[in-house]
Amino acid sequence: MTTVLTGITTTGTPHLGNYVGAIKPAIARSRDDDMQSYFFLADLHALIKCWEPERIAQSTREIAATWLALGLDTDRAVFYRQSDVPEISELTWLLTCMTAKGLMNRAHAYKAQVAENIEQDSEDPDKGITMGLFSYPILMAADILMFNAEEVPVGKDQVQHLEMARDIAARFNHHFGEHFTLPKAVTADNVAVLPGLDGRKMSKSYNNTIPLWLPEKKLRKHIMKIKTNSLEPGEPKDPDNSALMDIYRAFASPEQVAEMKQSYADGIAWGTAKQIIFETLNTELQQPRQIYEELMANPAKIEYELQKGAAKARRYATDFLAQLKVAVGIRPIT
Ligand code: TRP
Repeated sequence: MTTVLTGITTTGTPHLGNYVGAIKPAIARSRDDDMQSYFFLADLHALIKCWEPERIAQSTREIAATWLALGLDTDRAVFYRQSDVPEISELTWLLTCMTAKGLMNRAHAYKAQVAENIEQDSEDPDKGITMGLFSYPILMAADILMFNAEEVPVGKDQVQHLEMARDIAARFNHHFGEHFTLPKAVTADNVAVLPGLDGRKMSKSYNNTIPLWLPEKKLRKHIMKIKTNSLEPGEPKDPDNSALMDIYRAFASPEQVAEMKQSYADGIAWGTAKQIIFETLNTELQQPRQIYEELMANPAKIEYELQKGAAKARRYATDFLAQLKVAVGIRPIT
């Protein structure tokens, strides 16, 4: 059995990039018999960068409903909200006491913020930096080490955090015995990095996303907005240099892709290509969209699943944490 674990921070609305790059491949892999998957909503991580309670609550609802609507089998995978497993927070402290401050000083997210402060001539290089942001890699290490995850699918920006988790785990093991498996980042090169409306990587920070659960008409409108060039119908178009084509590749079969390439060479009109792409996406999303809408109208169903997942996660986490506490010297008096 291989243990796989990944989390999504609950600050935004799921978009096509999250679906293609993270959620869809994770669900597909969780169906393998030799996989034990842990998928969670990183709501404690959300607090690091978002102080809008309504936004966090809404995002948690939307991301949870998304995993469920896309067919995650919650009897096989453990699906939970991070904050429902208090053992993770407790483990964070044990790990904090094993983490060199110098290690955290090197974290990209923290360093970027300091660099920005210096660039803006602020007299305090730590301006706006909370201890949450500073020690965020330790919370992430606790997420992973709590379940002894071996593989952690993440974006490239998270690879450094995995290295830190390994460092922290190794130091703990060195002092207190071999308790933790050293996790490794899995950055899927074969999984598409989906371009957004402007052709750059689809990302919340570029404001170029296509939300996953748009109603049909709005989805069509968004696809019509994807940036193309000014080539006229009848003029051949380059399929290797086309955001539209990259999006199509993530949804279409190899045969459909080959056909579309031919249409590009034959000078298909951009509007016609966009219509075909819209129909392909819509066919795939239609049914899950309906389930998503039903779930969003029945939040109790979502909550039920999360509680079920938290109970499963805690069955493992409570025993393991008890063992770790004994190892560091926090023990019943006998
Ligand atoms: N930090 C991750 C991100 O921003 C989300 C996350 C939190 C995570 N804890 C995790 C991912 C543990 C993998 C494993 O994308």
